[in-house]
Amino acid sequence: MKKYRIRRVILFGALSLVGIIIFQVYWVNKTFSVLEQQFNQSVKVALLNVARNMAAFNDSEIPNQNPVKQLSYNYFVVDLNDFIDPKILQHFLTTEFSHSNLEVDYEYAIYDCASEEMVYGDYISKMADQNAKSKGNGFPKFDEYLYYFGVRFPGKTVFVLSDTKVWYVSAFVLVMAILFFAYATIELIRQRRLSEIQKDFINNMTHEFKTPISTIGISAKVLSENDISHQPKRLKKYAEIIAIQNQLIEEKIERILQSSLSERPSQRVATEIIQLEKTIAEVVKNFKPKVEEKGGQINFPDLGISTEIPADKFHFSNILYNLLDNAVKYCEIKPLIDISLVYDAHSIEIKIKDNGIGIDHKFHKKIFHKFYRISTGDVHNVKGFGLGLNYVKNMVKAHAWKISLRSAKENGSEFIIKIPQKA
Ligand SMILES: Nc1ncnc2c1ncn2[C@@H]1O[C@H](COP(=O)(O)OP(=O)(O)OP(=O)(O)O)[C@@H](O)[C@H]1O
Ligand SMILES: [Mg+2]
Repeated sequence: MKKYRIRRVILFGALSLVGIIIFQVYWVNKTFSVLEQQFNQSVKVALLNVARNMAAFNDSEIPNQNPVKQLSYNYFVVDLNDFIDPKILQHFLTTEFSHSNLEVDYEYAIYDCASEEMVYGDYISKMADQNAKSKGNGFPKFDEYLYYFGVRFPGKTVFVLSDTKVWYVSAFVLVMAILFFAYATIELIRQRRLSEIQKDFINNMTHEFKTPISTIGISAKVLSENDISHQPKRLKKYAEIIAIQNQLIEEKIERILQSSLSERPSQRVATEIIQLEKTIAEVVKNFKPKVEEKGGQINFPDLGISTEIPADKFHFSNILYNLLDNAVKYCEIKPLIDISLVYDAHSIEIKIKDNGIGIDHKFHKKIFHKFYRISTGDVHNVKGFGLGLNYVKNMVKAHAWKISLRSAKENGSEFIIKIPQKA
């Protein structure tokens, strides 16, 4: 998928997410305001009943049809005609709130017309938090009435919110939307990376096969010339070229096949007992011409030690071959490769050290990924599929060994294979 198209998809996704968030906030707000109105209404009805009860108790009438006034978000005043006894008032308040299912903290104050002050009554706590006592502030006076009391609900917001599951539903929907968006974005980016990797692989493959195939083509053309049978030397030379190029192609195909097979979880290595030093020496011997071709050197000192390890000889040789191949490939000067073995009581380490271009620390993990190649721009122009180290990693794992890398850019590389030894 093109880069800008992915950006567009992510942008749309982000916009929809913002839309959902706005909608959620709006919805929660709306629900809250409906519930808050319901609360206010219940309080007003309860307080009206309190006013009626107080009036009945005092043998008087309520001063008007609507003696309850809401002065602020959580503060109500109730007009009465007569002196108010705090004990009686608190009794009626508690009874009425309880009838109306208003299990909410409240505090009240009674207006004293002699001192012209609000006289604090009490804080009645219904909720778990008994410490949330008010200091009696926040009881503004209401000059229009003469005998009145005020009731305040400090825990109104919490009470209204706890009355509904709206928060849970809303938070759940939101979290799901965000999770889905994050997942979709990661998946999109992963897919794009995969398609780029695939494109790179096809490009690499085309490059890798182009040269041997065209060489075979040219040689075949020469061989089909009429008078070639009269030039046996030339005939032999071109037949040899075809054979060499054919072998090259076979090797490349084999490498791709091996790599794809090495990924299978069912891939088992046939463990036989092999002579470690002898096997490495054989690989080194076969590989030597390739190093010397580039004017380099490969060292594996013979210490006269012979160690037996359980391993699959074919895959073990391939692991070494791949590492050595890289050591030569990614070296811009005469390659110098040192192979050494470190023995200790619990393990043997095989160290393969080169003097190549080195690997920046940030690529140390990535180079073991399938198809991954460090894109070095114009720095070096080496061909490859990016499969070698992936195969190495899979095979090392199949043997229950470990591989690590010590390297820095322009400072050579050292791959270390650790083979645990049974005590
Ligand atoms: N010894 C090394 N020195 C410097 N860079 C290395 C070395 N070994 C591997 N690399 C880097 O790691 C990348 C991955 O290596 P790997 O062997 O998996 O693939 P490749 O060599 O590009 O292709 P293939 O081995 O499949 O032909 C290489 O492209 C190279 O950039
Ligand atoms: Mg390689």
